Amino acid sequence: MDLAGETGRLPWKGIGWYRKHFTIPASDAGKKIFIDFDGAMAYAEIWLNSHYVGTWPYGYSSFRIDLSPYILFGKENILAVKLNTEKWDSRWYPGAGIYRHVWLVKTNDVHVDHWGTYITTPKISANSATVQLVVEVVNESDKVANVKMQTEIFEAGKGNTLKKKIATTPFKNINIKEGSSLKANETIIISNPKLWSIEKPNRYFAVTHILNNGKIIDTYYSTFGIRILKFTAHDGFLLNGKRVQIQGTCNHQDLGALGAAINTSALKRQLTILKEMGDNALRTSHNPPAPELFELADEMGFLVWDEAFDCWKHGKKKNDYNKLFDEWHEKDLVAMVRRDRNHPSVFIWSIGNEVPDQSDVAMTKELTDIIRREDSTRPVSEGLNDPDGGRKSGAVHALGVMGVNYFFEQQAKWDADPRYANMPTIGSETSSCVSSRGEYFFGTNRKDWQISSYDLDHPGWGCTPDEQFRINAKYPNLLGEFVWTGFDYLGEPTPYGSDETNLLNFRNDPSKRAELEKALEELKKTQPPSRSSYFGIVDLAGFPKDRFYLYQSHWRPDLPMAHILPHWNWPERKDSIVPVYVYTSGDEAELFLNGKSLGRKKKQPGIDFRLSWENVVYEPGELKVIAYKNGKRWATDEEKTTGTATKLSLKSNVEKIVNDGKDLAFITLRVEDKKGLMVPRSNPEIHFEIEGPGEIVATDNGDATSFESFQSHDKKAFNGMALMIVKAKKGAKGIIKITVKADGLESGKTEIHID
Ligand code: GAL
Repeated sequence: MDLAGETGRLPWKGIGWYRKHFTIPASDAGKKIFIDFDGAMAYAEIWLNSHYVGTWPYGYSSFRIDLSPYILFGKENILAVKLNTEKWDSRWYPGAGIYRHVWLVKTNDVHVDHWGTYITTPKISANSATVQLVVEVVNESDKVANVKMQTEIFEAGKGNTLKKKIATTPFKNINIKEGSSLKANETIIISNPKLWSIEKPNRYFAVTHILNNGKIIDTYYSTFGIRILKFTAHDGFLLNGKRVQIQGTCNHQDLGALGAAINTSALKRQLTILKEMGDNALRTSHNPPAPELFELADEMGFLVWDEAFDCWKHGKKKNDYNKLFDEWHEKDLVAMVRRDRNHPSVFIWSIGNEVPDQSDVAMTKELTDIIRREDSTRPVSEGLNDPDGGRKSGAVHALGVMGVNYFFEQQAKWDADPRYANMPTIGSETSSCVSSRGEYFFGTNRKDWQISSYDLDHPGWGCTPDEQFRINAKYPNLLGEFVWTGFDYLGEPTPYGSDETNLLNFRNDPSKRAELEKALEELKKTQPPSRSSYFGIVDLAGFPKDRFYLYQSHWRPDLPMAHILPHWNWPERKDSIVPVYVYTSGDEAELFLNGKSLGRKKKQPGIDFRLSWENVVYEPGELKVIAYKNGKRWATDEEKTTGTATKLSLKSNVEKIVNDGKDLAFITLRVEDKKGLMVPRSNPEIHFEIEGPGEIVATDNGDATSFESFQSHDKKAFNGMALMIVKAKKGAKGIIKITVKADGLESGKTEIHID
């Protein structure tokens, strides 16, 4: 409780030292040795064999350090890394330490530079695509290098494999002066290109070889995709000539109970859940994420809004990026763009989120110029929470796409403004609806530090998902939206958080600001136990909240689905009213309680996105909905009053895992009655057990107020559910057996096989 709710009440502040002892064989003498950090939080300082070799303060950037000057060949080397989060403040849980992968890279003197390829596709037609490759080759030797370069193009297969070779460039002679570098160009024509799209995310590999006297001295792999991006002010966003409405979510980088350390299978699970909902775009709020996100997005078919900063010269917190801006903004932007620019998924660069300097013309221009210098094939945007300020000053002129956070009802005014008539607009942040999975309140939205799942609550700057859908329908020229947020995240437990930066949302509305100021004062007195967000459409454990189905019903109109809320276990409300909502991709639905019709309701197109029966008088039994589309039966759902809890059931998201020490199984626990129905209000204390060559990595239940450790093997279920995250021991074989126990309930069991 002593730690800040906004950063998850987790002890992330401190100084961390890492030491790594390693040997480089004597046979490598003369080679260049680099260390690449995908990210380290924060203020990394690095020494090799007691020599200071470099620093990178921004914990979200990827960077390379040259170890060559002090490396010892054939002997032990000691690398020391110091990280310091005491110098960093955050509005959410940022993680701490070396929390992404680190790579030791060995090259010859002459090699392709770090992030040294830049691949664009300037001409695309149905039967051919021109692929333009710019390769930066470095010569770190003391003599002129006369080398050859050649690139092979492959279709990419699953899991980053090279599938089919489709082109090879002729050898190109290049001469590079000692101690310098040059950019070599190659142009490749691909016939019948397989375009990258959300539905068919086709990717290619460029494999570039540098040869000296016929011998390959460097090989560099780059992935890319062939697709046409078009942003318009009047017809929205077009991918390969086809309109795509952006149905996106904003997400912070943490992986719930696993914290901020990257784990590819955890991230893949998140993206799989989002895809199931119909999400087609991701916003990396508010910083560059781990590079794995782009690999997954490329492969799974997501568009990505790649974001650099949450502030520029003026911070939101005391020790924010403001401390780094002057010295580092160019280096951090270059690092982001060079690392990510070959990914087909990246479609917009963002220079910031609600930055206090958003009306500053010179600053906005400087940042967008840096990005355009590194990549001019995508527009630059940012999330503006004072869009009028930026328009008035002219700062917005520097952007290619106008990103608006939460102020969409003003679109008519902006559409009428001739100065920005041709500027495409996107909802860079929308809704901010808040809820707790499985909690339903009557006559109030908030109780016991939880929030009702009727999906009606949001902070003053936000709106319900339905209100946003209405705005999107009214302004079809908008590119679409990025909902705040896809997943719950550690920290920022609005409305039970006391982060004062939220006041910035009301810079032009003194009365709303005063109202929020008062609410924050009150909250400080009450000490809420909340430690993670309520914004997620999916909870921290990865369990969909009701809202998941509201988005799915709108984002996947062709998927026959219906979802009833709330659950139907209200013994204390017998003969009282329990409102019932239905989320369906149909256009009409009839609700039945114990076989009796409660009426058929129809959505008004563009106006209604949920169907409501506000006056249902509760009686136990069965609530059933039949949804229709165009007059035909389309989907059904039911909620039944359950019996008492009798057993625990387990279901893993995968049957097999790999024994690489990283692959994970996510096992969902449900508390069930004897018929196998999930008992929605049961919160028994669960004990998790594991046998065989596996390990429980973390447990969770999605409750934003739980103080049980994420590593604990004992945890309460939250509204009938809990989660267990399991991995295989490295190199182990066999079967992992899992048992869960709770007093008075039949145990649950499952097995995971090691692949
Ligand atoms: C926005 C901000 C986000 C988050 C959100 C909560 O103003 O950009 O980072 O704080 O509010 O609604």
